[in-house]
Amino acid sequence: MDSLRSTLEARMEPEDAQAFYGRWARLYDVIARRTPGIPALRRRAAAACQLESGDTVVEMGCGTGANLPYLREQVGPEGTVIGIDFTGPVLTRARALTSEYDNVHVVRGDATRPPLEGIDDEASVDAVLATFVVGMLADPADAVDDWCELVDPEGHVVLANAARSEAWYAPPVNAVFRAIVVLSTPPTTKLRYENEPHLQLDEKIDAAHARLRERAVAVADETHVFGVVRLTGGRLEAS
Ligand SMILES: C[S@@+](CC[C@H](N)C(=O)[O-])C[C@H]1O[C@@H](n2cnc3c(N)ncnc32)[C@H](O)[C@@H]1O
Repeated sequence: MDSLRSTLEARMEPEDAQAFYGRWARLYDVIARRTPGIPALRRRAAAACQLESGDTVVEMGCGTGANLPYLREQVGPEGTVIGIDFTGPVLTRARALTSEYDNVHVVRGDATRPPLEGIDDEASVDAVLATFVVGMLADPADAVDDWCELVDPEGHVVLANAARSEAWYAPPVNAVFRAIVVLSTPPTTKLRYENEPHLQLDEKIDAAHARLRERAVAVADETHVFGVVRLTGGRLEAS
């Protein structure tokens, strides 16, 4: 287990991820917003946050901001949307995408230590959303714990992630998925021999979704896009 953990941590250094998404921000933005099935998934993920007008929602690892308009739609003009990401160039795109809204804030910072002080002193956090992010964190279950602590009682934490399909038509879908993961995994500066990054990604995603199910008092689970994208929403207990 320790060797697995150190392997996972070794291959996803934050500086590798920032360099990768910084370099490919423009291309990633097109994939993130135009891939068939993904806009519908984003709308569904925003709906799973169960927001009401005037609520506050934080998106961890918001990337180029593809979810932010859907979240803004849920909280309306009276609410607050905060997107956090540690890669500068993707945030430039997120800011451009949301420039018409004065209640969408895009902040540079670490999703495992979200810099929320002073952004909106009045507001508590009603929901946290993280799409296609937990697979990049050193300890995804730990991050989910922290996000559960961040939201108010009866608030929601929602995760969406691509992992191997378990459907009957899985073999070709998984082959495509494996190719995408290998091509889109930020290269590490450290020497590595492992050749199954899609399996490691699956383990991290499983761990994050499992922790959310443990922490929640009510859970909604769905799969999307040929079974490759898993969506889990968890409602936290009342105080
Ligand atoms: C695959 S992209 C997903 C972006 C967005 N959530 C979406 O659905 O399109 C992963 C994003 O997570 C960000 N990220 C990864 N680890 C992070 C961390 N610890 N703190 C903040 N951002 C992080 C990366 O910079 C990148 O923009």
